[in-house]
Amino acid sequence: RVVAEASILAIGLLMSSGANADDDLMRNAKQIFHPIPSVIPAVKNNPVTHGKVELGKMLFFDPRLSASGVISCNTCHNLGTGGVDAGPTSVGHGWKVGLRRAPTVYNAVFNAAQFWDGRAADLKAQATGPVQASAEMNATPDHVLGILNSMPGYVVLFKNAFPNEARPVTFENFAKAIEAFEASLITPAAPFDQYLEGNTHALDDQQKSGLALFMAKGCSSCHNGINLGGQAYFPFGVMKKPDASVLPDADKGRFAVTRAVGDEYVFRAAPLRNVALRAPYFHSGQVWSLKQAVALMSEIQLGTKLSDREENDIISFLNSLTGRLPKIEYPILPTRTNTTPKPSI
Ligand code: HEM
Ligand code: HEM
Repeated sequence: RVVAEASILAIGLLMSSGANADDDLMRNAKQIFHPIPSVIPAVKNNPVTHGKVELGKMLFFDPRLSASGVISCNTCHNLGTGGVDAGPTSVGHGWKVGLRRAPTVYNAVFNAAQFWDGRAADLKAQATGPVQASAEMNATPDHVLGILNSMPGYVVLFKNAFPNEARPVTFENFAKAIEAFEASLITPAAPFDQYLEGNTHALDDQQKSGLALFMAKGCSSCHNGINLGGQAYFPFGVMKKPDASVLPDADKGRFAVTRAVGDEYVFRAAPLRNVALRAPYFHSGQVWSLKQAVALMSEIQLGTKLSDREENDIISFLNSLTGRLPKIEYPILPTRTNTTPKPSI
């Protein structure tokens, strides 16, 4: 009887220490990460209105804004494939292959700054870049405004989106509308969000083990906050430089922004929301599986070799970061007129 009582006591202790461990894990996680909100976040200096979001969506999907008439934002940030293109790096005007992989536009509104090197402060500043970049859409602001002004449908949409402005079709308003649409591209309610909101059953045991490893091994020292990344910059290769195929010499990352020697090969910690949808990985897009990406990160950033089980547990946790993607209805775009400039390849 004594033995039986002792073993009942032991089981009781085990159960309560299990429950405590569960509580501790959730408490620690809540200090490091934050859930994606279920409503569109406010954007600085650009109140998000229905009119701007609808216009921004059309601009996002309109290939006629590119010089060739072939490339839209959605070409490289395909909303059906996690907000990215097929990779490895983006292919733009005239089949020009860019240096970097397109980062996702989903949840980009939560990043502290935009691009792999953080050179654009926000989505508004970012949106004026790609239409002009020769390796992307290869257009000019005048080309874009010419196209928009040639279609009465667009002029009306700009008036609705910016009702207090006498001449609302401007490049700045183009960027503001796109920013408002992008602010709507948030993906709440991932299992991990539900967990952070207090539902301990939202993650299974393997995902919990992966979360514990993600914090204990040090991944979360760089991948934290609401997007599990996107907030700060780190050398790509803290303990060991990756191969030149993954870290090509020519792209020195944040160095091009700050010119500080210490910023050579420094990049923004990649945001990991929906990461399972977005292979290939890293700014060079050369790593095609999440397992390889996790193994590489632990080796080069932390100087640790993870066991196979640890890698699988972390991947299982990363899978819990896939949220509910917004339903996007493909917009019917304004019709061209005789004055609409023709595409040139
Ligand atoms: C980066 C939006 C067109 C390829 C970005 C980012 C955003 C964005 C928000 C930063 C995301 C982040 O840092 O997390 C747009 C919009 C476009 C557009 C609104 C249309 C006006 C394109 C096109 C291409 C492209 C057509 C491909 C030809 C890229 C690449 C980056 C990027 C390669 C990363 C560049 C770097 O870090 O230096 N885009 N994009 N984008 N986009 Fe686009
Ligand atoms: C990129 C996971 C540790 C900084 C990535 C990516 C993954 C990942 C999957 C690629 C995401 C994408 O391409 O969209 C992990 C895991 C870690 C870990 C599982 C722990 C084992 C760290 C640490 C740091 C860090 C400790 C900082 C010292 C970065 C940076 C990038 C990145 C800077 C972007 C690299 C580039 O392509 O330029 N991480 N990470 N990571 N991570 Fe980590």
